[in-house]
Amino acid sequence: MKEELNIDWAKLPFGYLRTDYNVRATFCDGKWSDIEVSDSETINIHMAATALHYGQEIFEGLKAFRGVDGKIRVFRMRDNARRLRESAEGLKMQPVPEDLFCEMVKKVVKLNERFVPPYGSGASLYIRPLEIGMTASVGVRTSSEYLFMILVSPVGPYFKTGFGLTNICIMREYDRVAPKGTGRWKVGGNYAASLGAGEHAHELGYSAVLYLDPKEKKYLDECGPANFFAIKDGKYITPASESILPSITNMSLQQIAKDMGIEVEARHIPVEELAEVQEAAACGTAAVASPIGEIDDLDNGTKYVIARDGKPGPVTTKLYNALRAIQLGEAPDIHGWNTIIE
Ligand code: PLP
Ligand code: COI
Repeated sequence: MKEELNIDWAKLPFGYLRTDYNVRATFCDGKWSDIEVSDSETINIHMAATALHYGQEIFEGLKAFRGVDGKIRVFRMRDNARRLRESAEGLKMQPVPEDLFCEMVKKVVKLNERFVPPYGSGASLYIRPLEIGMTASVGVRTSSEYLFMILVSPVGPYFKTGFGLTNICIMREYDRVAPKGTGRWKVGGNYAASLGAGEHAHELGYSAVLYLDPKEKKYLDECGPANFFAIKDGKYITPASESILPSITNMSLQQIAKDMGIEVEARHIPVEELAEVQEAAACGTAAVASPIGEIDDLDNGTKYVIARDGKPGPVTTKLYNALRAIQLGEAPDIHGWNTIIE
Protein backbone atom coordinates (compact mmCIF):
# COMPACT_ATOMS: atom_id res chain seq x y z
CA MET A 1 0.00 0.00 0.00
CA LYS A 2 1.52 3.33 -1.06
CA GLU A 3 1.53 6.25 1.34
CA GLU A 4 -1.18 8.82 0.77
CA LEU A 5 -0.12 11.82 -1.33
CA ASN A 6 0.02 15.13 0.39
CA ILE A 7 0.53 17.50 -2.52
CA ASP A 8 -0.84 21.02 -2.80
CA TRP A 9 -1.54 20.65 -6.54
CA ALA A 10 -2.46 24.28 -7.15
CA LYS A 11 0.84 25.49 -5.67
CA LEU A 12 3.19 23.10 -7.44
CA PRO A 13 6.28 24.72 -8.95
CA PHE A 14 7.84 23.46 -12.20
CA GLY A 15 10.20 21.02 -10.56
CA TYR A 16 11.06 17.41 -9.82
CA LEU A 17 8.97 15.44 -7.38
CA ARG A 18 9.57 11.77 -6.81
CA THR A 19 6.88 9.53 -8.26
CA ASP A 20 6.38 5.76 -8.01
CA TYR A 21 7.97 4.46 -11.20
CA ASN A 22 10.05 5.21 -14.25
CA VAL A 23 10.48 3.09 -17.39
CA ARG A 24 13.66 2.15 -19.23
CA ALA A 25 14.84 0.36 -22.36
CA THR A 26 18.38 -0.29 -23.48
CA PHE A 27 19.88 -0.63 -26.93
CA CYS A 28 22.56 -3.28 -26.95
CA ASP A 29 23.88 -5.78 -29.54
CA GLY A 30 21.87 -4.06 -32.23
CA LYS A 31 18.43 -4.26 -30.61
CA TRP A 32 16.16 -2.63 -28.08
CA SER A 33 15.39 -4.53 -24.89
CA ASP A 34 11.98 -5.11 -23.36
CA ILE A 35 10.64 -2.27 -21.25
CA GLU A 36 11.87 -2.32 -17.67
CA VAL A 37 9.80 -0.75 -14.91
CA SER A 38 11.89 0.68 -12.10
CA ASP A 39 11.22 2.37 -8.78
CA SER A 40 14.84 3.53 -8.46
CA GLU A 41 15.74 7.15 -9.03
CA THR A 42 19.29 6.34 -10.04
CA ILE A 43 21.02 4.70 -13.00
CA ASN A 44 24.25 2.81 -13.33
CA ILE A 45 26.58 4.34 -15.89
CA HIS A 46 30.19 3.74 -16.94
CA MET A 47 32.41 6.68 -16.03
CA ALA A 48 33.67 6.88 -19.63
CA ALA A 49 30.19 6.83 -21.23
CA THR A 50 29.85 9.11 -24.25
CA ALA A 51 26.88 10.89 -22.63
CA LEU A 52 29.16 12.14 -19.85
CA HIS A 53 32.13 13.19 -21.98
CA TYR A 54 30.83 14.12 -25.38
CA GLY A 55 27.29 15.19 -24.66
CA GLN A 56 25.42 12.36 -26.33
CA GLU A 57 22.21 13.26 -24.51
CA ILE A 58 18.84 14.16 -25.97
CA PHE A 59 15.49 14.59 -24.29
CA GLU A 60 11.86 15.46 -24.72
CA GLY A 61 9.11 17.14 -22.73
CA LEU A 62 5.38 16.49 -22.94
CA LYS A 63 2.44 16.53 -20.58
CA ALA A 64 -0.51 14.47 -19.36
CA PHE A 65 -3.66 16.19 -18.10
CA ARG A 66 -6.64 15.07 -16.02
CA GLY A 67 -9.66 16.12 -18.05
CA VAL A 68 -13.07 17.45 -17.15
CA ASP A 69 -14.39 13.87 -17.58
CA GLY A 70 -11.75 12.44 -15.20
CA LYS A 71 -9.82 10.82 -18.08
CA ILE A 72 -6.08 11.25 -18.52
CA ARG A 73 -4.94 12.71 -21.84
CA VAL A 74 -1.37 12.85 -23.15
CA PHE A 75 -0.84 15.68 -25.64
CA ARG A 76 0.74 14.98 -29.07
CA MET A 77 2.93 12.12 -27.94
CA ARG A 78 3.70 10.96 -31.53
CA ASP A 79 5.14 14.37 -32.35
CA ASN A 80 7.53 14.13 -29.43
CA ALA A 81 8.47 10.61 -30.54
CA ARG A 82 9.28 11.98 -34.00
CA ARG A 83 11.28 14.89 -32.61
CA LEU A 84 13.33 12.59 -30.36
CA ARG A 85 14.10 10.51 -33.43
CA GLU A 86 15.24 13.62 -35.30
CA SER A 87 17.43 14.66 -32.35
CA ALA A 88 18.96 11.15 -32.31
CA GLU A 89 19.69 11.35 -36.03
CA GLY A 90 21.25 14.78 -35.48
CA LEU A 91 23.66 13.46 -32.85
CA LYS A 92 24.25 10.12 -34.56
CA MET A 93 22.57 8.27 -31.72
CA GLN A 94 20.34 5.21 -32.05
CA PRO A 95 16.79 6.43 -32.78
CA VAL A 96 14.14 5.13 -30.39
CA PRO A 97 11.36 3.48 -32.43
CA GLU A 98 8.30 5.74 -32.25
CA ASP A 99 6.04 2.85 -31.20
CA LEU A 100 8.38 2.00 -28.33
CA PHE A 101 8.42 5.65 -27.26
CA CYS A 102 4.61 5.79 -27.25
CA GLU A 103 4.23 2.49 -25.44
CA MET A 104 6.63 3.66 -22.74
CA VAL A 105 4.87 7.02 -22.35
CA LYS A 106 1.52 5.28 -21.89
CA LYS A 107 3.01 2.83 -19.43
CA VAL A 108 4.79 5.37 -17.25
CA VAL A 109 1.70 7.59 -17.06
CA LYS A 110 -0.54 4.66 -16.15
CA LEU A 111 1.91 3.47 -13.50
CA ASN A 112 2.01 6.95 -11.95
CA GLU A 113 -1.69 7.70 -12.41
CA ARG A 114 -2.05 8.95 -8.85
CA PHE A 115 0.42 11.75 -9.61
CA VAL A 116 -1.66 13.20 -12.45
CA PRO A 117 -2.94 16.44 -10.89
CA PRO A 118 -6.71 16.82 -10.54
CA TYR A 119 -8.79 18.67 -13.09
CA GLY A 120 -9.05 22.33 -12.20
CA SER A 121 -5.74 22.50 -10.29
CA GLY A 122 -3.91 24.10 -13.22
CA ALA A 123 -1.12 21.53 -12.77
CA SER A 124 -0.19 18.63 -15.05
CA LEU A 125 2.07 15.60 -15.18
CA TYR A 126 5.29 16.50 -16.96
CA ILE A 127 6.76 13.59 -18.88
CA ARG A 128 10.51 13.68 -19.48
CA PRO A 129 11.95 11.08 -21.88
CA LEU A 130 15.72 11.07 -22.30
CA GLU A 131 18.28 9.06 -24.20
CA ILE A 132 21.97 8.79 -23.39
CA GLY A 133 25.02 7.20 -24.98
CA MET A 134 26.32 4.47 -22.65
CA THR A 135 29.40 3.08 -24.40
CA ALA A 136 32.72 3.70 -22.67
CA SER A 137 34.93 5.70 -25.00
CA VAL A 138 37.74 8.16 -24.58
CA GLY A 139 37.96 8.77 -28.31
CA VAL A 140 35.35 11.14 -29.70
CA ARG A 141 32.82 8.80 -31.30
CA THR A 142 29.23 7.73 -31.06
CA SER A 143 28.01 5.02 -28.70
CA SER A 144 26.88 1.59 -29.73
CA GLU A 145 24.81 1.22 -26.54
CA TYR A 146 22.04 3.52 -25.36
CA LEU A 147 19.71 3.93 -22.43
CA PHE A 148 16.29 5.42 -23.06
CA MET A 149 14.17 6.21 -20.04
CA ILE A 150 11.13 8.21 -19.06
CA LEU A 151 10.52 9.87 -15.73
CA VAL A 152 7.50 11.91 -14.76
CA SER A 153 6.81 14.65 -12.25
CA PRO A 154 3.70 16.65 -11.42
CA VAL A 155 4.35 20.32 -12.23
CA GLY A 156 2.87 23.78 -12.05
CA PRO A 157 3.65 26.79 -14.27
CA TYR A 158 7.18 27.26 -15.67
CA PHE A 159 7.26 31.03 -15.39
CA LYS A 160 6.24 32.08 -11.89
CA THR A 161 3.63 34.45 -13.28
CA GLY A 162 1.72 31.54 -14.94
CA PHE A 163 -0.69 33.21 -17.34
CA GLY A 164 0.39 36.62 -16.01
CA LEU A 165 2.72 38.97 -17.85
CA THR A 166 6.41 38.28 -17.81
CA ASN A 167 9.30 40.47 -19.01
CA ILE A 168 12.17 39.28 -21.16
CA CYS A 169 15.35 40.80 -22.54
CA ILE A 170 17.65 40.78 -25.56
CA MET A 171 21.40 40.44 -25.00
CA ARG A 172 23.66 40.01 -28.02
CA GLU A 173 26.64 38.78 -26.03
CA TYR A 174 25.10 35.29 -25.75
CA ASP A 175 24.11 32.59 -28.24
CA ARG A 176 22.58 29.30 -27.22
CA VAL A 177 23.46 27.55 -30.48
CA ALA A 178 25.52 28.01 -33.62
CA PRO A 179 23.89 29.03 -36.94
CA LYS A 180 24.05 25.53 -38.42
CA GLY A 181 24.33 23.86 -35.03
CA THR A 182 22.11 21.82 -32.78
CA GLY A 183 19.31 24.33 -32.12
CA ARG A 184 16.67 22.37 -34.00
CA TRP A 185 17.28 19.32 -31.81
CA LYS A 186 16.53 18.87 -28.14
CA VAL A 187 20.08 18.32 -26.99
CA GLY A 188 21.20 18.74 -23.37
CA GLY A 189 24.22 20.77 -24.50
CA ASN A 190 21.96 23.54 -25.86
CA TYR A 191 20.64 24.06 -22.36
CA ALA A 192 24.11 23.99 -20.82
CA ALA A 193 25.05 26.73 -23.28
CA SER A 194 22.03 28.79 -22.21
CA LEU A 195 22.63 28.73 -18.45
CA GLY A 196 24.97 31.73 -18.33
CA ALA A 197 22.60 33.93 -20.33
CA GLY A 198 19.59 32.70 -18.32
CA GLU A 199 21.26 33.46 -15.00
CA HIS A 200 22.32 36.88 -16.19
CA ALA A 201 18.76 37.66 -17.29
CA HIS A 202 17.35 36.48 -13.95
CA GLU A 203 19.83 38.66 -12.05
CA LEU A 204 18.52 41.63 -14.00
CA GLY A 205 14.91 40.71 -13.18
CA TYR A 206 13.89 39.10 -16.49
CA SER A 207 12.37 35.66 -16.80
CA ALA A 208 14.18 34.73 -20.03
CA VAL A 209 16.41 35.83 -22.88
CA LEU A 210 14.93 36.39 -26.31
CA TYR A 211 17.74 35.06 -28.48
CA LEU A 212 18.45 36.55 -31.87
CA ASP A 213 19.58 34.54 -34.86
CA PRO A 214 23.19 33.60 -34.09
CA LYS A 215 24.52 34.47 -37.56
CA GLU A 216 23.41 38.06 -38.09
CA LYS A 217 21.70 39.00 -34.81
CA LYS A 218 19.03 40.69 -36.87
CA TYR A 219 16.05 38.42 -36.42
CA LEU A 220 14.17 36.97 -33.47
CA ASP A 221 14.93 33.34 -32.69
CA GLU A 222 13.43 31.92 -29.52
CA CYS A 223 12.78 32.71 -25.94
CA GLY A 224 14.80 30.72 -23.38
CA PRO A 225 13.24 27.24 -23.27
CA ALA A 226 10.29 28.26 -25.44
CA ASN A 227 9.37 29.53 -28.91
CA PHE A 228 8.18 33.07 -29.49
CA PHE A 229 5.09 34.40 -31.22
CA ALA A 230 3.49 37.79 -31.53
CA ILE A 231 0.19 39.19 -32.70
CA LYS A 232 0.57 41.94 -35.26
CA ASP A 233 -2.48 43.59 -36.80
CA GLY A 234 -4.52 40.47 -36.11
CA LYS A 235 -1.91 38.05 -37.56
CA TYR A 236 0.00 35.37 -35.66
CA ILE A 237 3.67 35.84 -36.48
CA THR A 238 6.45 33.52 -35.34
CA PRO A 239 10.13 33.18 -36.29
CA ALA A 240 11.09 30.70 -39.01
CA SER A 241 14.68 29.78 -38.20
CA GLU A 242 16.89 26.74 -38.48
CA SER A 243 18.44 27.42 -35.09
CA ILE A 244 15.26 27.06 -33.02
CA LEU A 245 13.51 24.00 -31.66
CA PRO A 246 10.39 23.20 -33.68
CA SER A 247 7.93 23.63 -30.82
CA ILE A 248 4.94 21.32 -30.78
CA THR A 249 3.03 23.90 -28.73
CA ASN A 250 3.78 26.55 -31.34
CA MET A 251 2.58 24.24 -34.13
CA SER A 252 -0.59 23.58 -32.14
CA LEU A 253 -1.23 27.28 -31.52
CA GLN A 254 -0.68 28.00 -35.21
CA GLN A 255 -3.27 25.36 -36.11
CA ILE A 256 -5.72 26.69 -33.52
CA ALA A 257 -5.17 30.22 -34.85
CA LYS A 258 -5.91 29.04 -38.41
CA ASP A 259 -9.02 27.23 -37.15
CA MET A 260 -10.15 30.58 -35.71
CA GLY A 261 -9.56 32.30 -39.03
CA ILE A 262 -6.37 34.04 -37.89
CA GLU A 263 -3.66 34.35 -40.51
CA VAL A 264 -0.32 32.75 -39.58
CA GLU A 265 3.09 33.87 -40.79
CA ALA A 266 6.21 31.87 -39.98
CA ARG A 267 9.06 34.04 -41.27
CA HIS A 268 12.10 36.06 -40.29
CA ILE A 269 11.08 38.75 -37.80
CA PRO A 270 13.52 41.68 -37.56
CA VAL A 271 14.08 42.84 -33.96
CA GLU A 272 12.73 46.33 -34.75
CA GLU A 273 9.38 44.85 -35.75
CA LEU A 274 8.73 44.37 -32.03
CA ALA A 275 7.71 48.04 -32.02
CA GLU A 276 4.74 47.13 -34.24
CA VAL A 277 3.26 44.15 -32.39
CA GLN A 278 0.26 44.32 -30.08
CA GLU A 279 0.83 41.05 -28.19
CA ALA A 280 3.69 38.60 -27.65
CA ALA A 281 4.20 35.33 -25.79
CA ALA A 282 6.66 32.54 -25.06
CA CYS A 283 5.20 29.14 -25.93
CA GLY A 284 6.20 25.60 -25.09
CA THR A 285 5.15 22.53 -23.17
CA ALA A 286 6.42 23.97 -19.90
CA ALA A 287 5.62 27.62 -20.65
CA VAL A 288 2.26 26.83 -22.41
CA ALA A 289 1.69 30.40 -23.67
CA SER A 290 3.21 32.92 -21.29
CA PRO A 291 2.23 36.45 -22.27
CA ILE A 292 5.05 38.98 -22.42
CA GLY A 293 4.69 42.43 -20.88
CA GLU A 294 7.87 44.10 -22.01
CA ILE A 295 10.95 43.23 -24.04
CA ASP A 296 14.07 45.22 -23.21
CA ASP A 297 16.92 45.38 -25.69
CA LEU A 298 19.76 45.80 -23.22
CA ASP A 299 22.35 46.56 -25.89
CA ASN A 300 20.75 49.78 -27.11
CA GLY A 301 18.33 50.64 -24.33
CA THR A 302 15.16 50.18 -26.44
CA LYS A 303 12.13 49.17 -24.40
CA TYR A 304 9.40 47.42 -26.33
CA VAL A 305 6.32 47.75 -24.16
CA ILE A 306 4.02 45.09 -25.57
CA ALA A 307 1.15 44.85 -23.10
CA ARG A 308 0.41 48.55 -22.87
CA ASP A 309 -2.61 48.09 -20.60
CA GLY A 310 -0.72 45.72 -18.28
CA LYS A 311 -2.84 42.68 -19.19
CA PRO A 312 -2.40 39.62 -21.44
CA GLY A 313 -3.79 40.46 -24.88
CA PRO A 314 -7.13 39.15 -26.18
CA VAL A 315 -5.76 36.94 -28.98
CA THR A 316 -3.13 35.31 -26.76
CA THR A 317 -5.81 34.71 -24.13
CA LYS A 318 -8.16 33.15 -26.69
CA LEU A 319 -5.42 30.88 -28.06
CA TYR A 320 -4.28 29.85 -24.58
CA ASN A 321 -7.83 29.02 -23.52
CA ALA A 322 -8.48 27.05 -26.70
CA LEU A 323 -5.31 24.98 -26.26
CA ARG A 324 -6.09 24.26 -22.60
CA ALA A 325 -9.66 23.31 -23.47
CA ILE A 326 -8.43 20.65 -25.92
CA GLN A 327 -5.86 19.32 -23.45
CA LEU A 328 -8.46 19.11 -20.68
CA GLY A 329 -11.14 17.46 -22.81
CA GLU A 330 -13.41 20.51 -22.59
CA ALA A 331 -13.34 21.10 -26.35
CA PRO A 332 -13.44 18.57 -29.19
CA ASP A 333 -10.04 17.21 -30.17
CA ILE A 334 -10.61 17.77 -33.88
CA HIS A 335 -6.99 17.18 -34.88
CA GLY A 336 -6.56 13.95 -32.89
CA TRP A 337 -3.84 15.35 -30.64
CA ASN A 338 -4.77 13.57 -27.40
CA THR A 339 -4.06 9.99 -26.39
CA ILE A 340 -6.41 8.83 -23.65
CA ILE A 341 -4.75 6.59 -21.09
CA GLU A 342 -7.18 3.74 -20.42
N1 PLP B 1 12.32 25.88 -27.55
C1 PLP B 1 13.11 25.31 -26.63
C2 PLP B 1 14.54 25.68 -26.61
C3 PLP B 1 12.57 24.39 -25.71
O1 PLP B 1 13.34 23.83 -24.79
C4 PLP B 1 11.21 24.07 -25.78
C5 PLP B 1 10.64 23.09 -24.87
O2 PLP B 1 10.43 21.98 -25.20
C6 PLP B 1 10.43 24.69 -26.75
C7 PLP B 1 11.02 25.58 -27.61
C8 PLP B 1 8.98 24.38 -26.86
O3 PLP B 1 8.75 23.16 -27.51
P1 PLP B 1 7.47 22.32 -27.21
O4 PLP B 1 6.30 23.20 -27.47
O5 PLP B 1 7.53 21.18 -28.16
O6 PLP B 1 7.54 21.91 -25.80
C1 COI C 1 9.57 21.92 -22.20
O1 COI C 1 8.83 22.87 -22.43
O2 COI C 1 9.18 20.75 -22.23
C2 COI C 1 10.97 22.11 -21.92
O3 COI C 1 11.71 21.25 -22.22
C3 COI C 1 11.40 23.34 -21.30
C4 COI C 1 12.48 23.20 -20.25
C5 COI C 1 12.00 22.73 -18.94
C6 COI C 1 13.72 22.57 -20.74
